Amino acid sequence: MRSVMNVNQTFIMCKPDAVERGLVGEIITRIERKGLRILRMDLRVPDRPLAEAHYEEHADKPFYGELVDFLTRGPVVALVVEGPEDQTFHLMRTLIGKTQVAEAQPGSIRGDFATTTNENLVHGSDGHEAASREIALWFPS
Ligand code: RTP
Ligand code: MG
Repeated sequence: MRSVMNVNQTFIMCKPDAVERGLVGEIITRIERKGLRILRMDLRVPDRPLAEAHYEEHADKPFYGELVDFLTRGPVVALVVEGPEDQTFHLMRTLIGKTQVAEAQPGSIRGDFATTTNENLVHGSDGHEAASREIALWFPS
């Protein structure tokens, strides 16, 4: 069922590798340059329960443990991003680039800066329901 809340908002995260590599400014610049608006922004080290809940859809995948280890290894920058269309999550997924690093197009964040699928710099919600769930998880107040 499609959520009616936050249809023009999406949850974005600069992952620990983005913070370590000093690419947060580059990522935020691309979001702003696109014409999207940053509504919330918070630098924090996610604890294990938060990281596990964030990626709960992948709990049965072989890479789940490594994914949670990665996400909790240092600070991330959590963002709520707003756009004028109800497809803001889709605009952001295009800016971010494809999941498999070999398929991430040049011009996308992953295509320009990532060399592995595991450390791919940015997360973006993959739909309306995910955006609502993730915004509530990371910014409960
Ligand atoms: P994200 O959730 O982080 O924005 O990434 P995504 O939607 O593009 O990809 P997703 O399928 O949700 O996977 C989450 C993260 O798990 C790692 N992954 N590894 N070994 C693999 O085949 C594999 N598939 C996914 C990636 O780090 C991906 O970002
Ligand atoms: Mg995903």
